[in-house]
Amino acid sequence: MAKHFLSLADIPASELRAILDEAHVRKKARASWPKGKVDADAPLDGRTLALIFEKSSTRTRFSFDMGMRQLGGSSITATSSDMQLGRGETIEDTAKVLSRFVDGIMLRANSHDTLTALAHNASIPVINGLTDFNHPCQIMADLQTLEERGGDLSDMTLTWVGDGNNVTVSFIHAAVKFGFKLRVSCADGYTVAGQTIEAARAQGGDITIEPDPLKACENTDVVIADTFVSMGDSDADARLKDLMPYQVTDALMEASAKTSIFLHCLPAHRGEEVAASVIDGPKSAVFDEAENRLHAQKAIITWCFS
Ligand code: CP
Ligand code: NVA
Repeated sequence: MAKHFLSLADIPASELRAILDEAHVRKKARASWPKGKVDADAPLDGRTLALIFEKSSTRTRFSFDMGMRQLGGSSITATSSDMQLGRGETIEDTAKVLSRFVDGIMLRANSHDTLTALAHNASIPVINGLTDFNHPCQIMADLQTLEERGGDLSDMTLTWVGDGNNVTVSFIHAAVKFGFKLRVSCADGYTVAGQTIEAARAQGGDITIEPDPLKACENTDVVIADTFVSMGDSDADARLKDLMPYQVTDALMEASAKTSIFLHCLPAHRGEEVAASVIDGPKSAVFDEAENRLHAQKAIITWCFS
């Protein structure tokens, strides 16, 4: 059975912990090496990962490609519109054909159902590079960033501010697996589906819903923002208007713990979900976070092939 990485909710906590440990080890082992040099153990020698995009990407695209090179393997990138997928070939047939050519598939999909259909029909590992439902690779990089700054996740409080979106869902899943406390502060009408929160709580997740962003940020260790208009959202004007009171401002950061960290998966929109003074300020870890996409995903890929 191929090992897929589709959702943090599907993977045992001990295995996610091992992936994060591996990410730290691999990052340290190649500190200051040239970016294209292969890791000493070249664990993916001879393997090729297909990178398929139904939507735009900068970080996911480059980090998976460089990650495969560093692991001793290679990748092939295509957008769905380059492929027959964009002309109506089914995802099921695409899965069966690619399983004959490559060793694994990373998909960024509009719909989570497309990703699960790909995984069900592939005989090789499938990795989620973001869907409308979740973004698990991102959160592994985010947690690596917090740990390398000295954080003990089981002892931390993280606060999500703004739109309850795909990235929020993966933070909710991660709260169950890694034992941090999560406060979710979303505008009315922009909350995460109740069943996602209830399922996390039923598994011991410490999730608090606090609509007041200032209260939600009080004494928190981490403040997290994301775009108010995700890829695929059509109601941009209404979103910007409704979500502006949830901009992460200096006032919110001042309410947070003295040593707090600001995270954002990027791309960012300064003056919308976050003030420039916050994302470009001393508490911001966003570029370490972006770099860690590479290190965390290398550990995810090696897990899939283990
Ligand atoms: N954070 C993230 O997934 O970035 P990209 O959309 O650039 O891949
Ligand atoms: N929530 C954003 C994340 C981008 C990396 C989106 O889906 O567009």
